[in-house]
Amino acid sequence: MIDASAHVQSVAVATARSVPKAATAVGYAVGTKGAVPRQLGVNRAALTANGFDGKAGQTLVIPSNDGVAVAIGVGDAEGIDAKVLRDAGAAFVRCASKHAHLATNLADVDGVDAATASRAVAEGILLASYRYVGLKNDESSGSKLESLTLVTSAKRAKDADKGAAAGATIAGAAALARELANMPPTYLNARDIADRAVEIASGAGLDVEVFNADDLAQLGCGGILGVNRGSTEPPRMVKLTYTPKNPAGHLALVGKGVMYDSGGISLKPSDAFHQVMKMDMSGAAAVLATMSVLKALGCRSKVTAFLMCTDNMPSGSALKLGDVLTMRNGKTVEIHNTDAEGRLILADGLSLAVEEEPDGIVDIATLTGAVLGALGTDIAGLLGTDQGLVDRVKASSETVDEPTWQLPLESKRYRKLLDSVVADMRNIGGPYAGTITATIFLSEFTGDVPYAHLDIAGPMKVDGDQGIYSKGATGFGTRLLIDLACNFSASN
Ligand code: BES
Ligand code: MN
Ligand code: ZN
Repeated sequence: MIDASAHVQSVAVATARSVPKAATAVGYAVGTKGAVPRQLGVNRAALTANGFDGKAGQTLVIPSNDGVAVAIGVGDAEGIDAKVLRDAGAAFVRCASKHAHLATNLADVDGVDAATASRAVAEGILLASYRYVGLKNDESSGSKLESLTLVTSAKRAKDADKGAAAGATIAGAAALARELANMPPTYLNARDIADRAVEIASGAGLDVEVFNADDLAQLGCGGILGVNRGSTEPPRMVKLTYTPKNPAGHLALVGKGVMYDSGGISLKPSDAFHQVMKMDMSGAAAVLATMSVLKALGCRSKVTAFLMCTDNMPSGSALKLGDVLTMRNGKTVEIHNTDAEGRLILADGLSLAVEEEPDGIVDIATLTGAVLGALGTDIAGLLGTDQGLVDRVKASSETVDEPTWQLPLESKRYRKLLDSVVADMRNIGGPYAGTITATIFLSEFTGDVPYAHLDIAGPMKVDGDQGIYSKGATGFGTRLLIDLACNFSASN
């Protein structure tokens, strides 16, 4: 068998005062106004004549005997920010994808501090260079990128170094999340992701505990065990803990790790649905990837994570409609649709998170098709019981440009849609507001702890290369959660 173990391309990222000799593709920032770098070898009139006027998103490749120079549009000087630079980095690497050694002065722009600029440029270039090679015998479709040099002035050098290193770390985490989500479902089952988590934890300063079916039964985790009943693969719950000295706060993260979601007895109706359900563990992947870099980034808050991992399969032993499950916190749930399985496994994870007494809980899950109807493929749903925490998640979403939009929780209006005759609640609401009723369900397990929920069913994947994303899993949420954890404190 070909080794499909998640493998992330390692790129040497450095800063320098001038373009290194080895660089064969060199990108230069060009605004809509102002000077055109002379190294491009052409003037503004020539650029304009070729349809390039410096707008953000534009690129123009100029061949030379040593390789290529690339004019990278960054727009109006006043509009340049981290997002413009991240996207500019992505645009650069997309037209330099045949080259192994890249250099650019994008991080040297005025108006954005050196650390922020370098981080954004490194992120954009590394995120967009990601390719999933998986089980291809021919690896030539993989990323060619080997080294990246950010050229900056001497006075920006120190901060640029820090920013570039952080950007590389963060992009590496996102690549890990993508790699895990892209893997074929039989190559990454619940046992496999738990093994990966144990490996990662040892190099990342994390405590790790893995819970098997017996352990989960001991804990009374009826949700994950119920969902797992139809599967021949056993479940795993992974608890990861990052504990810095004198923590500024304590954040809990819970990730949906449905390694394959067939729908169970409520079988999904078409191949197209099935095809993408190996990615139904994207939430757990984002949480694991986040945890993997907290120490490297010097995160000052304690973070406790639960990865809830199982398949959702139909079989003679599968969960039936009308069955009732008892969750970790004692609440009972009547099953009305086995395809609403994410909330069942998260219920146990959230209950356990509450027991840790954190200052906030955030879960991330490919939870509902309904969120695609509401917000489309590019935007994650954001809901919560605590507006302060929701606002912080939203702020991180904006900082890293992983778009979210808040939907109302409206428990007072819609909780009744979950009423059951035989149990405390049913696992689905009515035909409408599916993302809201799913989150109301989850909020039954978060007690009094401030809680926010991210539904990433839309942005978990892209169907073609698109800016910083390459076809397949996006790793969405990884950069958001890293930013949240690194800026989290008990009081804010
Ligand atoms: N994993 C799916 C949600 C999903 C759909 C993720 C599309 C990514 C893309 C989830 O487990 C699910 O099946 N949800 C059901 C819930 C319904 C039965 C209430 C759905 O949205 O159809
Ligand atoms: Mn489902
Ligand atoms: Zn699912």
